[in-house]
Amino acid sequence: MKIALVTGASSGLGQKYAEYIGEIFPEIEEIWALARREIRLKALAEKITVPKIVPIECDLTKDSDIEKLRQRIRAKSPEILLLINNAGCGFHGAFEASSEEEQLRSIALNVTALTQITRMALDYMPEGARILNTSSIASFVPNAYMSVYSATKAYVTFFSRGLNEELKKSGRSVTAVCPAPMNTEFLTVGHIQGNSKTFERLPYCDVGKVARAALIKAKKRKSVYTPRAFYKFYRILVRILPDWLLVKMAKT
Ligand SMILES: NC(=O)c1ccc[n+]([C@@H]2O[C@H](COP(=O)([O-])OP(=O)(O)OC[C@H]3O[C@@H](n4cnc5c(N)ncnc54)[C@H](OP(=O)(O)O)[C@@H]3O)[C@@H](O)[C@H]2O)c1
Repeated sequence: MKIALVTGASSGLGQKYAEYIGEIFPEIEEIWALARREIRLKALAEKITVPKIVPIECDLTKDSDIEKLRQRIRAKSPEILLLINNAGCGFHGAFEASSEEEQLRSIALNVTALTQITRMALDYMPEGARILNTSSIASFVPNAYMSVYSATKAYVTFFSRGLNEELKKSGRSVTAVCPAPMNTEFLTVGHIQGNSKTFERLPYCDVGKVARAALIKAKKRKSVYTPRAFYKFYRILVRILPDWLLVKMAKT
């Protein structure tokens, strides 16, 4: 069985990935769609019939759920042709005033779970397989008032690029997609909506366009993809401007 494994498929970007996988990767027979809200995953499975969606209720921050996933993969022994590590969260606000539980949850989800799933999936990823990791423009420069989130996304981009180099010799690849703000539940879950002037001023990315283009870039084995010309230019500026200025500019 040739499968794609997609985390965070119950909303936003993850749901859009699921919608476009059939078009960009027609060889994939099943999408294993992971998230906590099973009801959303079941609704997605009714909407998308090719490839078949397999809803898997899973809290990626819970060791017991990670273990269940490991056992499921071991039992079914699928060929994982595409792994999309997309589930993520980030919380806006002064670190000192923030909830320790929320900050640790974003590290557990964005860093630990992503690393665990990549490690367990790789044993089932044949030559030619691809990994697509959802990072962020927040990975380019430390973001004051979302400092934990931007640090987790710096990990995602660095890990993706390093692993991409390691996997080349086995014909597999890793792509990090670095979107700018998108209109998804991320903004409300992360207390961003109504609290960040930066998020109000920045140009937004269209979720569907990001998902489709990121899948195409993964197919072409590009190591980093930054949607929208404005943010490609930002990525160039990051290499030119002094660090102290960038950190001031990138306050959320
Ligand atoms: N929206 C933006 O402005 C933006 C910008 C740059 C990058 N990103 C990145 O894009 C990715 C997708 O986010 P989004 O914008 O699509 O936001 P979203 O709609 O909030 O999606 C987040 C997804 O992660 C899942 N998730 C959260 N906690 C989980 C957990 N403990 N276990 C399993 N799944 C969990 C959610 O499903 P359940 O709640 O059902 O578990 C949901 O499907 C994230 O990595 C985010 O950091 C977002």
